[in-house]
Amino acid sequence: MVDKQQHQILDAMGIQVWELRHSIISPIEQPGCIDTSDPEVEAKVEVRATPPAIAKLDWQDLQQTVAGCQACELHSTRTQTVFGVGDQGADWLFVGEAPGAEEDRRGEPFVGRAGQLLNAMLFALNLKREQVYIANVLKCRPPANRDPAGKEVQHCEPYLLRQVELIQPRIIVALGRFAAQSLLKTTDPISRLRGRSHQYADTGIPLVVSYHPAYLLRSPIDKKKAWADLCLAQSLLGALS
Ligand code: URA
Repeated sequence: MVDKQQHQILDAMGIQVWELRHSIISPIEQPGCIDTSDPEVEAKVEVRATPPAIAKLDWQDLQQTVAGCQACELHSTRTQTVFGVGDQGADWLFVGEAPGAEEDRRGEPFVGRAGQLLNAMLFALNLKREQVYIANVLKCRPPANRDPAGKEVQHCEPYLLRQVELIQPRIIVALGRFAAQSLLKTTDPISRLRGRSHQYADTGIPLVVSYHPAYLLRSPIDKKKAWADLCLAQSLLGALS
């Protein structure tokens, strides 16, 4: 059920919520949610391995390694690395593209306007920011927010893989085209990646693709679709319980 405050948030997001008069639906079957028994829900498997030197790092060592990383040119323009934030044992992992100016300044992902919308989306799911884990494909800001380069993604990928191994999330949400394509190693457009369940690398962890909050700020009309994506993720998580 969606409570009064969540209603207000969903309202602010431009999402109309329908409630049954005599509600018989479970918390995961929220209005607008997608049925995961739908044949469209499918898995895709791809094998990727964490390099041995990184595979043995614990949280502290991993964070230190990332902080000192000079594997690509981004180290020379960053203020600091942006490792990730949240519950290290979270069920939910949200992955964005790369830090922006505000994130580079503060050392935390999704703290700008897009981050505020992400927080609202979490709230609508009955989740606090501290209950999930939030990270990016890249740990350093590309100058002038340019698109990340293939080499930069390649160098950074082991860090995210290790984060996933340590967190062992039960669901991953890729935020935006870039994160989705990087995590799924595909060039498919976001329109083909949304609305179904994928699998992250060969981890068996379900991955759902949604829009980037920064895109939703520019195109609020798609917030409804983003809400449907989050409902899909929630129902996949519920189905695992
Ligand atoms: N956009 C992203 O993809 N990540 C952030 O951390 C901030 C904005």
